Amino acid sequence: MEFRQHRFHSLDAYSAIAIFVWKDEPLAGSALDIDTATEGMLSRLIEARELSCDPLAVTTLLSPVGVTASVVLVVGLGLRSDYAAGFAARAAGTAAKSLAGKQRRVVAFYLDSLDVADSVAAVIVGVVGQGIYQNKRSLTPFETACFHTDDLAAIEKGKILGESQNVVRKLVNMPASDLYPESFALQAVELGKASGFEVEVWDEQRLEQERCGAFLAVGRASAHPPRLVIMKYMGGHSDEKPLGLVGKGVTFDSGGLSIKTSEGMMAMKCDMAGAATVLGTMRAIAKLKLPINVIGFAGMAENMIAGNSFRMGDVLTARSGKTIEVHNTDAEGRLVLADTLDVAVDHGVGKIIDLATLTGACLVALGTDIAGLMTNDEELAADVKAAAAACGEYVWELPMHDYFADQIKSSVADIKNMGDSRWGGSITAGKFLEEFVRETPWVHLDVAGPSFSDKPKAWIDGGASGCMVRTLVEYAG
Ligand code: BES
Ligand code: MN
Ligand code: ZN
Repeated sequence: MEFRQHRFHSLDAYSAIAIFVWKDEPLAGSALDIDTATEGMLSRLIEARELSCDPLAVTTLLSPVGVTASVVLVVGLGLRSDYAAGFAARAAGTAAKSLAGKQRRVVAFYLDSLDVADSVAAVIVGVVGQGIYQNKRSLTPFETACFHTDDLAAIEKGKILGESQNVVRKLVNMPASDLYPESFALQAVELGKASGFEVEVWDEQRLEQERCGAFLAVGRASAHPPRLVIMKYMGGHSDEKPLGLVGKGVTFDSGGLSIKTSEGMMAMKCDMAGAATVLGTMRAIAKLKLPINVIGFAGMAENMIAGNSFRMGDVLTARSGKTIEVHNTDAEGRLVLADTLDVAVDHGVGKIIDLATLTGACLVALGTDIAGLMTNDEELAADVKAAAAACGEYVWELPMHDYFADQIKSSVADIKNMGDSRWGGSITAGKFLEEFVRETPWVHLDVAGPSFSDKPKAWIDGGASGCMVRTLVEYAG
């Protein structure tokens, strides 16, 4: 898909046009231009209540007289007073996804009533689907997308955000047969070269030398050995401590010997969404040349079953020296993260944000669209919450009372990898991670809900969402 910024002079030369209309405001800007060109067709349809301006209502006008485009898509924005951050992205994504149902040449988006960078990002996200293995895809990118605005910088930013989000979506949607620790590491190396960050890959020998006993146990039974991918972007002052971004990268989670049901396993190619989000965010930050230092850490392993699987009752020694009694091999993400967080701390990061599809309990607590936020530092948490709110992504803080830490005490080892019961499962997982960040200010985002969806939404296909890339870039920028 090629991008063009243009000023609105003629309505010619487009295969399709998308405009956006408020429910409680008179037609203005590009919507008014279309209304004038069609001799009042828009206002007549709105007046007759044939065209809804409700939030995300889509009306397709076919070949209206006065406009050469064969389609004018009108997307409702609802009441101006109900407008919330992120809604522009949903509206633009809805338009893009509707129009991408068919091959189209030049599609024009008139964004004068919307937040430009958000809308451009959403257009790019909206035309890509999860059907990457279909011979005939249901969503097709446009040859050219045109954006009506004078703000070139906003278009460039939106393009970088949207493409980075789609990098995440593509990696997460790839099945575990094609995406495993080594192939993820290769993709990171390529992306690093193309977008300007350094990538170092620790293989299983290096992980052994580094005594990453918890991490290695999870990956041991897989034909695909584990990898730790370290991505460095130093755009800030040399004396500024880097931000650490840490991602869970379990390329497939069978549950191990605590095996999942077939149904529970079905979506488990998504269990590396945290790692993919870190990679996509590194790409965006490097492409935007943000003046900060960031190091990304992606802990990649496949949780499988074989004669050499780690077992219930095994005691693992983590890189930090802490011993962990295994009570459930399906609580593997926290084992990978234990060592990955420890490596991050040793790299001298000043703050850590980790992302992980860590617990089913987080879906029970917060549903499918909200990330659970846990922290040891309310100031950092406030900043991350503010960044999420500014992008219209949803996070909700879960409490971290000390008594939850009692629930991961073991009578055999220092800690165990599960709470005493299922209750508060996201928090006991968070408390486990906290054991490995030492004094570093840290936020943990449990993205088990929002990172992957069984069902499509109006603005995005089902499958991977690419969530939190925008929030992290907003936080970093
Ligand atoms: N990857 C899963 C969590 C998950 C579940 C992510 C559903 C996305 C959708 C994680 O490794 C897991 O299996 N967690 C267990 C922990 C339990 C054994 C303490 C869970 O949530 O059941
Ligand atoms: Mn698991
Ligand atoms: Zn998992």
